[in-house]
Amino acid sequence: MQHRRKPASSAAPSAAKTPPSRRPTAPLSLAGLLVAVFLVATFLYNEDVTKSTSADVAVAGSVATSRSPELSRRQQQEEAQEEAQEGGDHQEKDHQQQQPPPPPEQPPPQRAAACDLYQGRWTFDAAGELSPLYRESECEFLTEQVTCMRNGRRDDSYQKWRWQPAGCDLPRFDAALLLERLRNKRLMFVGDSLNRNQWESMVCLVQSVVPRGQKTLQKFVNNGSLNVFTAHEYNATVEFYWAPFLVQSNSDDPQVHSVMDRVIAWRAIAKHANKWKGVDYLVFNTYIWWLNTFEMKVLKGGGGGGWSKYALVDRPVAYREVLKTWAKWVDRHIDPNRTTVFFMGMSPNHITPWAWGNDGGIKCAMETQPIVNRTAPLNIGTDWRLHGVARGVLARHLRRVPVHFVDITALSEFRKDAHTSVHTLRQGKLLTPDQQADPKTYADCIHWCLPGLPDTWNHFIYAQIISSPLPPLHH
Ligand SMILES: *[C@@H]1O[C@H](CO)[C@@H](O)[C@H](O)[C@H]1NC(C)=O
Ligand SMILES: *[C@@H]1O[C@H](CO)[C@@H](O)[C@H](O)[C@H]1NC(C)=O
Ligand SMILES: *[C@@H]1O[C@H](CO)[C@@H](O)[C@H](O)[C@H]1NC(C)=O
Ligand SMILES: *[C@@H]1O[C@H](CO)[C@@H](O)[C@H](O)[C@H]1NC(C)=O
Repeated sequence: MQHRRKPASSAAPSAAKTPPSRRPTAPLSLAGLLVAVFLVATFLYNEDVTKSTSADVAVAGSVATSRSPELSRRQQQEEAQEEAQEGGDHQEKDHQQQQPPPPPEQPPPQRAAACDLYQGRWTFDAAGELSPLYRESECEFLTEQVTCMRNGRRDDSYQKWRWQPAGCDLPRFDAALLLERLRNKRLMFVGDSLNRNQWESMVCLVQSVVPRGQKTLQKFVNNGSLNVFTAHEYNATVEFYWAPFLVQSNSDDPQVHSVMDRVIAWRAIAKHANKWKGVDYLVFNTYIWWLNTFEMKVLKGGGGGGWSKYALVDRPVAYREVLKTWAKWVDRHIDPNRTTVFFMGMSPNHITPWAWGNDGGIKCAMETQPIVNRTAPLNIGTDWRLHGVARGVLARHLRRVPVHFVDITALSEFRKDAHTSVHTLRQGKLLTPDQQADPKTYADCIHWCLPGLPDTWNHFIYAQIISSPLPPLHH
């Protein structure tokens, strides 16, 4: 279907004459990063204080904090730096849009694709023909956290931007076709609340073609960590498993994870991963919880003393070790003939309005347009080092199982308009008008409205699922 393109409103970054030769390892100004870390930490803490404060795990002062855990730190850092440089690639690419892509330095983990779906531009679909893919009012499974229009948002243009890859078109989304692919199968999202956001989107994307009475949503089954949508006619499920760091942590309770000291056990994954076995499509993510502090608290010893003994480790180093633990599990336990694995890139926050030229702005509040007409690289506080680490681990530590990296980070950075902002919940209740009038305290510029941006992320997953050959039959 030919689609009318609107170059005037496209968000394609224009090609700069001289790409800045900035060091990709230092893409953030320290002040900006400090503010970003503080705001994210404050927000996440506030978000967590949900139902019960009495059940909060108080992991007060660490008994023994040391700076260096048992690992050859220097080597780790060198590798991490190398990967961070890979992470900087995107900034170069942004400026080379009109030119042929540079030859890849190493074969990409996914099968050779004709076109890079993640290079392109946002285009406004005023008629709403191709976007949104469903209506807010038509998806009974949406939680109040994400129904921005129902929660009082006035402008709905954030629903009408669709992603146009530069070199090809995304296949038209066909829910019935996807459900046919999911027949007798399980699709599971594993990760943090952004992945839960994306899972809600996927439920809405597929549920539209399932008649009432033939679909159910069970929340907090399996000791709470699992939410399961079932399309009964198809015997297909779309599930979400809560594991915000993928590995075990003291924040694994899906409902009560308000923890002052977040501590991760970077080699411990089996307890979660046992629940991932036998799933046909796995979609992993982990990012937002890493932004709380510059240094991660990594459990020391076998964990015999609870979560109180930890070491402080630089964020990218810890991220790399956690992803290696995860990659090792995937490589050992996944049958690539049966299961397709995705890893989501980082979902960016928009809490630094000066970075997109809105000096009087407050976080993402009142933003109704994507960032457009950008001539310089964005610098909105995304930790691109982690992006580089993820790409590096996927390229080097998965020998048997190919993992599809869904590279949503750069394209999502444009979407300052798409967050739930003040049209959402806090502590399980809709924000009051007074709270809505105080975005500095209450705006959520981390999660996204639905319908909205996560639908595009799922469109990439859809494209991969329907374009893969059917796996050989088992049993
Ligand atoms: C973007 O640039 C185009 C062409 O210069 C212009 O027509 C359009 O108004 C600009 N859009 C915004 C939102 O500034
Ligand atoms: C239904 O789906 C489950 C999970 O994918 C599968 O194990 C089971 O065999 C399916 N049932 C039938 C009758 O095909
Ligand atoms: C639920 O948790 C209990 C106690 O930790 C455990 O014994 C049980 O096996 C768990 N059930 C499932 C389905 O994971
Ligand atoms: C996948 O299937 C092919 C063909 O049946 C087989 O040769 C290959 O060993 C299988 N791979 C794994 C990892 O089981």
